[in-house]
Amino acid sequence: MSKFTVIDHPLIQHKLRILRDKNTSTKDFRELVDEIAALMAYEVSRDMQLEDVEIQTPIAKTTVKQLSGKKVAVVPILRAGLGMVDGVVKLIPAARIGHIGMYRDEKTLEPHEYFVKLPEDIDKREVILVDPMLATGGSAKDAIAALKKRGAKTIKLMVLVAAPEGVKAVQAAFGDVDIFAAALDDHLNENGYIVPGLGDAGDRLFGTK
Ligand code: PRP
Ligand code: URA
Repeated sequence: MSKFTVIDHPLIQHKLRILRDKNTSTKDFRELVDEIAALMAYEVSRDMQLEDVEIQTPIAKTTVKQLSGKKVAVVPILRAGLGMVDGVVKLIPAARIGHIGMYRDEKTLEPHEYFVKLPEDIDKREVILVDPMLATGGSAKDAIAALKKRGAKTIKLMVLVAAPEGVKAVQAAFGDVDIFAAALDDHLNENGYIVPGLGDAGDRLFGTK
């Protein structure tokens, strides 16, 4: 089974507290999502491979480490995942960016794919799939399937708030996709919203409601 990790760094937890508050403005919400994504990227990239390389400093020759593993693609699930892209790219500036458009039908909660555009060499890249919310897991599962169909082999899922139902669903479907979250919440309500959650991430991020 894949790993599920809650990144409970104090800075992340503090910023998440402000994010959850219904009185937080769109401007602050957007900035906080960006900051939390950057902090999480630091942990999500912890197992990146390194190799030895010899360099010359102004003083002496020395052997130091540099990244040697797969290159990275950051793939947001639209819309809300867009808010996490810049934060990750601040830490991994050479990353390529793909997009998967997916919306959840408000009644059936079923995800609908409307757009997929990925880097051509997605099969050679480590994919960090980003979305603030993992609720039923339907959107994440379909996005992972869309990535795999196009050749992606190494995929990590990074979310801000996860519901136990979503974690279970993704783990059951994909034993090879590790999941990272800033929080594991209690449950889903009858409308498929995470409780206590933070509400509708897309609407809060873009100010559409
Ligand atoms: C939200 C969220 C996830 C999805 C999670 O997107 O950003 O993509 O719901 O729910 P699930 O785990 O039950 O599939 P939404 O469909 O509201 O679209 P948006 O990002 O365009 O607002
Ligand atoms: N999508 C959201 O934006 N929020 C939730 O709580 C669940 C799905």
